[in-house]
Amino acid sequence: HRPADRLRQPSQPAVVAHRGASVQAPENTLAAFRRAIVLGASAVEIDVQRTRDGALVVLHDATLTRTTDAETRLPGRGPWRVADLTYDEVATLDAGSWHDRAYAGERAPLLREVLDLLHATGTGLLLEVKSPSSAPGIEADLHAELRSAPGYLADALWEQRLVVQSFDHDSMRRLKERAPDVPVGLLGSPPRRRLPELATWADQVNPRHRSVRASFVDAVHDAGLACQVWTVDRATDMLRAAALGVDGVITNRPDVLRGLLRVP
Ligand code: G3P
Ligand code: CA
Repeated sequence: HRPADRLRQPSQPAVVAHRGASVQAPENTLAAFRRAIVLGASAVEIDVQRTRDGALVVLHDATLTRTTDAETRLPGRGPWRVADLTYDEVATLDAGSWHDRAYAGERAPLLREVLDLLHATGTGLLLEVKSPSSAPGIEADLHAELRSAPGYLADALWEQRLVVQSFDHDSMRRLKERAPDVPVGLLGSPPRRRLPELATWADQVNPRHRSVRASFVDAVHDAGLACQVWTVDRATDMLRAAALGVDGVITNRPDVLRGLLRVP
C-alpha cells in the first residue's frame, strides 16, 4: 500500500467476543472473558438475566440445563429456570464442566464481577439484556448496577466502551429514557424506513450477519446509527462483514477474526 491508500482505508471493525472466547472456554464465564482479553478482543458480548432474588447474572439460556450441572445438583427443582432460583443457588452450580473438565468449578458470574474485570483491563462491553419482558424493571436494576461499580460507568462512557443491546426494543427505549448517556443497540433488522425514527433515540442497529447487505449497513450509517453484526465464525463471512464496513463483528473466534483483520 502507498501511504495515501492506507489513509483511505476505512477503520477496522471492533473484535467482539461472543459470550467471551466461547470456542476455547465455557461461554459467559470469567474464564471465557479472560481468554477473550488474552486473545486481544476489543470487547466481550454477554447475556444478562435476573435471578429470583434480584441479582443480575451472566447467562444465555432461560434455564440452567445446558450450561450447568443443575439437573444433578438441584434434583427435583426442574425446569431450572434462572428466574426461579436465587443467586446463591446458581453459584453452587458448575458452569464449566459441560464445556471441558478443565473448567470444572467455573460458575455463572454476577454482572458486577464482569464489570470489575473489564474495567481493570480496559475491555469493552456489549451487554445484551435477555428477555426483559419476563423481568419487569430490569432496566432500572441494570442502570443501578452500572452506576454502583466504582468508576465503571464514567470511564466506560468516556472511553466509549459500553453498549447495552436487546431484541426487545421497548426495553432499550425504557433504558434510554432512564439513562440517556448509555448507548443502546437494537438487535435485528428493522425496516429501513424506520431507521431515521429509531436514530432519534437509539445508537446502534445490530443485525444477524447473514441477512445484511452493504446497502443496509449504509442505510444504518446514513441514519446516524452504528452497526455490529453477529455471530460471524467463518473466515469468509468475517472478511465479508469487514468489507461491508460494519463497526463491530461479534464472533465466537476472536483470535481468528483478529488474525484476518491484522489488528496490530
Ligand atoms: O450479540 C447478539 C447475539 O448474541 C444474539 O444472539 O442468542 O447469541 O444471544 P444470542
Ligand atoms: Ca447474546
